[in-house]
Amino acid sequence: MAFTEHEEKVSEFYSRVADNNHNWNDGFLTFGLWKTKSGDPIPHPLCYGAVYDELLEGSMIQADHNVLDVACGQGAGMLRIKSQNGCNIQGLDISAANVEIAKRRLCDTGITVTRGSGTKMPYDENSFDCVICVEGEPHMNSREDFFREAFRVLKPGENCSWLTL
Ligand SMILES: C[S@@+](CC[C@H](N)C(=O)[O-])C[C@H]1O[C@@H](n2cnc3c(N)ncnc32)[C@H](O)[C@@H]1O
Repeated sequence: MAFTEHEEKVSEFYSRVADNNHNWNDGFLTFGLWKTKSGDPIPHPLCYGAVYDELLEGSMIQADHNVLDVACGQGAGMLRIKSQNGCNIQGLDISAANVEIAKRRLCDTGITVTRGSGTKMPYDENSFDCVICVEGEPHMNSREDFFREAFRVLKPGENCSWLTL
């Protein structure tokens, strides 16, 4: 798949920060959620995964659902979602380095990770019950293209959702 100059630059940036030898922040690349809704502190490193928990709170993801994590980073979020919901989940990310780390992390889970862009997803229409994206779409050129693609690959109907943060 051919990427735009902007996408190649984003990929290159994440290759520079990717570290194959250390599991920074439990494998999450989020900025973290540092307080609960009631104001209690969420300590390091729990604050990073807490971003995914916040996003998925009240979501309708079920065990037989196909979920796509766009900008899945190093795969820690997908692991968390699968362990909590038992759903089928797969990931898409533009960074070759992050895709490689995610594949290694998830090698015995059945979760597949693909290198590609959220603005031109390599999936058929009506493929997923839920599309999620955590701290990914601000990198994309453009957000409109991401939402158009998310809408295209989502199955129709009120049980389907996209969740972004
Ligand atoms: C801040 S990290 C978040 C990663 C992951 N969601 C997490 O929370 O750990 C942003 C991710 O977006 C990915 N990304 C940026 N532009 C993208 C694009 N156009 N398509 C897919 N992924 C993209 C980056 O490679 C990076 O892995």
